[in-house]
Amino acid sequence: MREIIIDCDPGQDDAVALLLALAYPETFEIIGITAVAGNVPLSLTERNARIICDLAKREDTRVFAGCAQPMKRALCTAEAVHGKTGIDGIEIFEPETPLEEAHAVDFIIEALLAAPAHSVTLVPTGPLTNIATAIEREPGVLEHVDEIVLMGGAMREGGNFSPSAEFNILVDPHAADIVFRCGRPITAMGLDVTHQVLSTRERVAAIRALKNPVADAVAGMLSFFHRHDAAKYGSEGAPLHDPCTIAYLLQPELFAGRQCNVSVETESELTIGHTAVDFWHVTDRPINTNWIYQVDAHGFYSLLNESLARYSESAA
Ligand code: RIB
Ligand code: CA
Repeated sequence: MREIIIDCDPGQDDAVALLLALAYPETFEIIGITAVAGNVPLSLTERNARIICDLAKREDTRVFAGCAQPMKRALCTAEAVHGKTGIDGIEIFEPETPLEEAHAVDFIIEALLAAPAHSVTLVPTGPLTNIATAIEREPGVLEHVDEIVLMGGAMREGGNFSPSAEFNILVDPHAADIVFRCGRPITAMGLDVTHQVLSTRERVAAIRALKNPVADAVAGMLSFFHRHDAAKYGSEGAPLHDPCTIAYLLQPELFAGRQCNVSVETESELTIGHTAVDFWHVTDRPINTNWIYQVDAHGFYSLLNESLARYSESAA
């Protein structure tokens, strides 16, 4: 059993990552889901995380609201991609899953300090504000972190929110800099790999064919989510960015990575949020990241469909 904290900004792809993780209670003990401002403001990301817990019939999951603003920069959001609700494509309702009283950063600190050494996996799929704030406030939490498996950054793919920066890193580059320098093992799923798992029409049809409420919700979200990327890249289907993190924890053999240094630009207005990935080790910067550059897309979608089919059994 792997203890995990998922820090997210739902977002349709965050929502699919949550549903993927929630489908394997025998593999993941989700000690908490922490919401951060990103794709949409915090009031929506925390509500959306709770809606997904309701959809998964896991109303017992602990959901916390975290930072409403990046550490130093003003918040920029992505309604153009995710819609006004952040999870356009499904019906919005007031969830049963309660919002915990504690601030997400206080929860992260308390939960990590109470955990054995190197026992908790952090899975950030949004801007890294909550994680970095916890590290800065209480550096002692790091010895309780086993590894960090995050979605963020880009190398060959270039930026998706500026010419040179990926959204999660660009929104809070100062937080990302703290995380990439923290010294714990990091596996990073950047755009180079997430753009290999496009939710094509056929793949969405296969999800819809599973015929259960959760699969229907995923198909609805992906049908909305893809339109922005289709218009922007001319691609068929939206990249399933965030679920790559959970898929990696479930089946790491689907992915190929390379240990290298990843450093974050935090000064230049032109390239702020850029992840400088030293893939060919041309500098003496310390290795800090397993940079994932390849995925078996067929295997990824087989895993996703298997996870969503599990909701048929639980719905039965
Ligand atoms: O750039 C893609 C990332 O930004 C994903 O995590 C998506 O949900 C948005 O947060
Ligand atoms: Ca996200």
